[in-house]
Amino acid sequence: MKIGIVGKGGVGKTTVAAMIARTHRERGARVVAIDTDSNPNLGMSLGLGLAEVDALPALPRSTVTGAGRGEHDAETLLAEYGRATPTGVTLLNGLRIEEAGAGCACGGHATVRSLLSQALQAQVDVTVVDMEAGLEHLSRSGGTLAAVDLLVAVVEPSRKSVVTAARTAALAEELGIPRTVVVGNKARDETDATFIAEACESHGLTLVGVLPHQETVRDADRAGADLELDPGTELGETLTRLVTELDELVTA
Ligand SMILES: Nc1ncnc2c1ncn2[C@@H]1O[C@H](COP(=O)(O)OP(=O)(O)OP(=O)(O)O)[C@@H](O)[C@H]1O
Ligand SMILES: [Mg+2]
Repeated sequence: MKIGIVGKGGVGKTTVAAMIARTHRERGARVVAIDTDSNPNLGMSLGLGLAEVDALPALPRSTVTGAGRGEHDAETLLAEYGRATPTGVTLLNGLRIEEAGAGCACGGHATVRSLLSQALQAQVDVTVVDMEAGLEHLSRSGGTLAAVDLLVAVVEPSRKSVVTAARTAALAEELGIPRTVVVGNKARDETDATFIAEACESHGLTLVGVLPHQETVRDADRAGADLELDPGTELGETLTRLVTELDELVTA
């Protein structure tokens, strides 16, 4: 299963991507998380230190088309570029801006696209891709995320984030991505949750769940640590339900 996580800046894409990846890992799946943000920090949400994240090499700018055809087969690529994280999720770094003025990141996006479209199937059960904010990954030629089974647009309790999700869903449909659903995040109370539900409905979006704003998420971020997911909390419970529902959507 391949899931792309998209949405407006700062809504919680990286946090939600890490939580979904980790939940699948805890259920026994082999999980790869791909950071395609040119300012990568998914590794920190998966428990790596800043120095470890910065030392992670970006995927090479080559296509991966399976053993004997591409420059790298997926197994070699995972062994050379994959980084085990304390959560058990393997992290791949899609691209990195090494220096100012170095040019566009198209090569990295092409690598991620080809990884998603064919190469990782045998080695990995669940691939979660954390995207940069904005819509460029869907408009770029070929669409970095064209091969995902499911796009999850994260929204917070704000109209603009829901509008971004609606634009994303429209582009995703044009690209032929089979399903786009919305996950609400950072709801502080019932009013926030209701706003998200109503705004999604008015934009014709399918909402699968709303994660609460939780202090432990903020604290983990400030400490630069991964998030201990306690299934007894509202966040843990909602997440467990959410991951099962996303699973069912893909396998239905
Ligand atoms: N459910 C939550 N409760 C509390 N804080 C949260 C929650 N989700 C995310 N945050 C906080 O919101 C901030 C932004 O989260 P995150 O980096 O995951 O967003 P993003 O969408 O990936 O941002 P960017 O667009 O910069 O990539 C972080 O400080 C994170 O700790
Ligand atoms: Mg992010």
